[in-house]
Amino acid sequence: MEYLKLYNGVEMPLLGYGVFLVSPEECERCVTDALEVGYRLIDTAQAYANEEGVGHAWRRSGLKREELFLVTKVWISNAGEEKAAKSIDESLRKLQTDYIDLLLIHQAYGDVFGTWRAMEKAYRDGKVRAIGVSNFQAGRFFDFAHYVDVKPMVNQLQCNVMTQQTGITPLLAETDTKMMAWGPLGGQGVDGIVKSEALANIGARYGKSAAQVALRWLTQRGIVAIPKSSHKERMAQNLNVFDFTLTDEEIAQIATLNQHDTGTVNFSDPQFVKYLIENYG
Ligand SMILES: NC(=O)c1ccc[n+]([C@@H]2O[C@H](COP(=O)([O-])OP(=O)(O)OC[C@H]3O[C@@H](n4cnc5c(N)ncnc54)[C@H](OP(=O)(O)O)[C@@H]3O)[C@@H](O)[C@H]2O)c1
Repeated sequence: MEYLKLYNGVEMPLLGYGVFLVSPEECERCVTDALEVGYRLIDTAQAYANEEGVGHAWRRSGLKREELFLVTKVWISNAGEEKAAKSIDESLRKLQTDYIDLLLIHQAYGDVFGTWRAMEKAYRDGKVRAIGVSNFQAGRFFDFAHYVDVKPMVNQLQCNVMTQQTGITPLLAETDTKMMAWGPLGGQGVDGIVKSEALANIGARYGKSAAQVALRWLTQRGIVAIPKSSHKERMAQNLNVFDFTLTDEEIAQIATLNQHDTGTVNFSDPQFVKYLIENYG
């Protein structure tokens, strides 16, 4: 495993396991499998309704808490200083831990500054080792980062070979905010990346799959990737990406695959916000 250092010195694994759309019942089995194959970073969220499964799995794994890197996210319905503070304690209880390694604001809606104050306090109180945001696109990120005391250590964004996020990258560098990639394989039910001929051809040179090339492309450039799979053999495959290095020429070739730089989700669409509140509130 390779690690990334956040600006406060916290070391974060460059590859982790994400549990979006993993049912509460399935989550414990999936995370148990993921820990067995060697993942040490688990990415969950209050909105995924499966933090308890993560908690049960790591407790039963026999691993020491300090061997793990647990990431969760404050949901929109918990926005605001008071509600966010309560929700952080609730996440700690569900995850069966007394600290979270990285806590993110999940979406840039509602009272994000109030939420951030609660997160800064949790950070100072030692309940959280690092804090950041998710889905804060360039303008929103700039405004937010400008006005908060503790600058976000991470921005978790949709990022993969087809959504390369080149626009926001220099902005993140200004505050030394690291990028964490959700949907690193293109997301649920999308075959574009894992079946990409261009990636498969590059992978063939190293005995790797298209998925492995897509994950190496992220990690090699210092972007944390959190692929999800319900299948143990794919979990193992996705983790096995640190024994080859893409050449400059291959990186340049992959740059041409960028199709929608800022992602496939329109975060400014009121219908999208309504959908989130109604389905995950
Ligand atoms: N912050 C946010 O708003 C946000 C949004 C979305 C996701 N996330 C986080 O990011 C994580 C990953 O994103 P994601 O789950 O959307 O998508 P993803 O990891 O890009 O893709 C998951 C899909 O790829 C398949 N897959 C995995 N490994 C494969 C392989 N080696 N070969 C072929 N297919 C493979 C999976 O199928 P099987 O399961 O059937 O193997 C699943 O359908 C989430 O779990 C979550 O933790 C965060």
